[in-house]
Amino acid sequence: MKVLILGSGGREHALAWAVSRSARVTEIVCAPGNGGIAQIARCVFANLNSLDSMLSVIEAEQPGLTIVGPELPLALGIVDALQSRGFRAFGPSREAAMLETSKGFAKRFLQRHNIPTARYAVCTSPEELEKAIEMFHPPVVVKADGLAAGKGVIICDSRATALEAARDLFSGSLLGAREQQVVIEEFLSGDEVSFLCLTDGKHVAPLLPAQDHKRIGEGDTGPNTGGMGVYTTDTLLEPGMQEWILHHIAQPTIQGMADEETPFVGVLYCGLMMTARGPQVLEFNARFGDPETQAILLRLESDLVEAMEACVDGRLSETELRWAPGASVSVIASSEGYPGRYKTGFPITGLDEASRVPGVQVFHSGTVRKEDQILTAGGRVLGVSASGEDLEEALSRAYQALGEIRFQGMYIRRDIAYRALRRPR
Ligand code: AMP
Ligand code: GLY
Repeated sequence: MKVLILGSGGREHALAWAVSRSARVTEIVCAPGNGGIAQIARCVFANLNSLDSMLSVIEAEQPGLTIVGPELPLALGIVDALQSRGFRAFGPSREAAMLETSKGFAKRFLQRHNIPTARYAVCTSPEELEKAIEMFHPPVVVKADGLAAGKGVIICDSRATALEAARDLFSGSLLGAREQQVVIEEFLSGDEVSFLCLTDGKHVAPLLPAQDHKRIGEGDTGPNTGGMGVYTTDTLLEPGMQEWILHHIAQPTIQGMADEETPFVGVLYCGLMMTARGPQVLEFNARFGDPETQAILLRLESDLVEAMEACVDGRLSETELRWAPGASVSVIASSEGYPGRYKTGFPITGLDEASRVPGVQVFHSGTVRKEDQILTAGGRVLGVSASGEDLEEALSRAYQALGEIRFQGMYIRRDIAYRALRRPR
């Protein structure tokens, strides 16, 4: 079968790598792909902001399965458009993707279904928000309703700064577009966990839980990014916690979507805060996480494409995911200046040496191939990923591989997984 992957980041490189290991697959096409993906898949151009552009590539390629990487094509309704043309696509419909594309929708849904989440109010004007905020003790979290590429969440120390942030969201001065709705939310503290599962709209199969590091600076300081590094271990969650999250969060979400006649098929990413009163949903994503996917798929032993087909065909209960024991990590090498302004076009050296470190896969997040060179082409450039028998081994392999890699202005966080290493075991 020919598989087509939409996207251009480290997540899509890891997906292409896992797809390439499937016995079901004869050809992989990635649109638009990047310099690393081009080594294992045929890359063709598509504009992910345009349904027409994506559809014309898929019509031309006639894949047996399309895997949608990022959220934007889901928000545009790519899965609905493909299904109506008789193509099989892994990902939720536009309506089901509202769990990610509208935070107001997600919060109301969580409340309707009694799924644990922070207290909140969804407001449609600054005046409404000014009233609602009286009921929240600072710090308060202010969130844009729509997709904001990691820039839509502002944690505020006072009601006054929260009100100011909300006004900037409504006026469009913060994100460019005017928000119709703004969510204010109770501040939660605890450890964050990314809990992803595959689903056919009815059954749920959990992937390995992972912990991301969203801030640019070591010790979780500085501005938010798309994610600077992630790890998985067999002990990331307390025993029994995975079952609890499945029964109280993931399954009720999938059941609730089915009951409301917007069944969710694809991968549901539950961003959780592990608080003193148990796990609470911070956000949903309707797609694989990046870089979570790099570390998670490194440990997947069973066939990803078979599992995805089972989701699309509504028979996930017949399949079983198998995982390598141990641990995995993915450490991002980013461009100097990210998540602010940065320069691109610098040559990257040492990629072959890095790949020779045992257990290591170097996934490309933002690169291009030009003649014989790989050049930087994004804020996040590489996701240097490694598995191992335990976290220490996976980390030392990833950092050893990173030691081989050079490009101008390369930045990495040296403290990935510090919370796990500090936790008593
Ligand atoms: P989100 O895009 O909703 O995942 O938010 C981005 C980041 O903001 C999360 O990964 C958290 O670190 C932080 N965050 C979001 N909501 C809350 C909350 N209610 N309390 C504390 N931190 C939050
Ligand atoms: N790593 C966070 C995300 O994919 O949204």
